[in-house]
Amino acid sequence: MTAPLRIALSSDHAAIALRQAIAAHIAAQGWVAVDIGPTTPESTPYPQHGKAAARLVASGDCRFGIIVCGTGQGIMMAANKVPGIRCGVCADTFSARMIRQHNDANMLSLGARVVGEGLALDIVDAFLGAEFEGGRHATRVDMIEATEG
Ligand code: RB5
Repeated sequence: MTAPLRIALSSDHAAIALRQAIAAHIAAQGWVAVDIGPTTPESTPYPQHGKAAARLVASGDCRFGIIVCGTGQGIMMAANKVPGIRCGVCADTFSARMIRQHNDANMLSLGARVVGEGLALDIVDAFLGAEFEGGRHATRVDMIEATEG
């Protein structure tokens, strides 16, 4: 039997409730939610949390990462500084599907002050339900990776 795939989750203080809702949602679907916090509401800088989740993905410990801050933008920028990470911010399901199909994104970022919980969970489902198409898109993703060295 194949082990369930692990998904790293983190946020800053602005997105704790949404992150926890996402963790419960994906756990109910059979994913292993590796939720690395934070759990208390004190202000805490998004870069450290974005990079911590990104390292779990880049190391292979987790297959995907889902990160959340107020806008989703700052934590995405931090995660994308970790080599091997391709993270996009999504506020719609089309983009969430496409960053998997065309960009082979391994992380999804959401803005808790941008999307409500219902839409956020649909975006998560679109992201996790899509597969990378490879082919010409693989060539382009390779070009992204080549700029990291
Ligand atoms: C925190 O107030 C806010 O700046 C942060 O959650 C995020 O929106 C940054 O990109």
